[in-house]
Amino acid sequence: MTTPIAAPRRILLGITGGIAAYKSADLVRRLRQQGAEVQVVMTDAATRFVTPLTFQALSGRPVRYGLWDEAAEAAMGHIELARWADLVLVAPASADFLARLAAGRADDLLATLCLATEAPIWVAPAMNRLMWANAATCANVATLTGRGVQLLGPDCGSQACGETGPGRMLEPAAIVEALHAAEGAGALAGLHVVISAGPTREPLDPVRFISNRSSGKMGFAVAAAARDAGARVTLVSGPVSLPTPAGLRRIDVETAAQMYAAVHGAIGDADIYIGAAAVADYTPTCCASQKIKKTSDCLELSLHKAADILASVSALERRPFTVGFAAETNDVERHALGKLVRKHLDLIAANEVGTDRAFDREDNALLLLWPGGRRQLELKSKADLAREFIALVAERYRETPRCAVSPVPALV
Ligand code: C5P
Repeated sequence: MTTPIAAPRRILLGITGGIAAYKSADLVRRLRQQGAEVQVVMTDAATRFVTPLTFQALSGRPVRYGLWDEAAEAAMGHIELARWADLVLVAPASADFLARLAAGRADDLLATLCLATEAPIWVAPAMNRLMWANAATCANVATLTGRGVQLLGPDCGSQACGETGPGRMLEPAAIVEALHAAEGAGALAGLHVVISAGPTREPLDPVRFISNRSSGKMGFAVAAAARDAGARVTLVSGPVSLPTPAGLRRIDVETAAQMYAAVHGAIGDADIYIGAAAVADYTPTCCASQKIKKTSDCLELSLHKAADILASVSALERRPFTVGFAAETNDVERHALGKLVRKHLDLIAANEVGTDRAFDREDNALLLLWPGGRRQLELKSKADLAREFIALVAERYRETPRCAVSPVPALV
């Protein structure tokens, strides 16, 4: 079965030593036609079959091939390169490369990247039919597929060595087709995901309101990532100045009460709710019908607690998989864990906010906590972070029993 993947926009194409390397030129061209960014990494042997210059021209990026290339490492180190990729595709994958991958070697740049990446790895083997049938290769392939590496091919037919049999690299068009098929079966395919994003505004009078610094960028990035993972997305947004990501339904609201109503209006058939909005905790007890005048030195505001949207969703009888966010200025993990427990959530994403952190920035880091587990997602662009976050949401969604309130974990 093909591993479900989100639409891979950044493909790290590994090319190893084999006659079929010439076909990879066509593969790069086709992948780029589909809108993917392609970074080619060649093994030393591959450069003896086709020059890196060919791939540089076709991919529009300098080809990487050395583990010790100081200039290239300074621009984008091999670990960054491993993180950059949505998908690692090795085509052609030689018998030697499959053996090194199975053994977990890090003796050249491509093997090292495969060890260092969290992205799915796909391999399109190409070799002589007897090499393919050899027990050592069979064992290596079994090890790799057992670890989740996706095998593309090989094809059967005439080989460069003059023999006929299985071992030809799959044609580039068939590889691109396999990518499309996997996209269709994205990690959230067929699911309805409701996401709240941005701040709310609680009016004090016709011209003033209480609000917060949320820009909505994280919630919008999460909505786009959920869409890319195949979900039908409803985005309930507070007042933000962000364009609507293509292909999703957006409902604009202003106050916490309006957000409550919009979320509950959309949640009926939702499979997942992600509360990424910075909803007001308190709202003015009454909103003056006319502008409040500067008549006294001191003005006291009377506020009451706003209804907690997230807690109300997780308390529904037919509850969706419920995910919260926790923006904290201190003791991030302790406070977030408290919210996970109190609000009966399936997952919570915590981040530290304050001067220069999280709000209205392009990057962020998240600590993900769920009953019995935790994962730290390091500082990166909100788009990349959202993709990793959604991948974990999908994983937890699949592993969490439905129709039950999560067991309440003990506070530590
Ligand atoms: O308790 P706190 O406001 O810190 O919790 C944050 C989480 O709760 C976020 O996911 C936020 O969207 C949600 N929330 C809510 N309704 C509120 C306040 C917070 O849904 N009134």
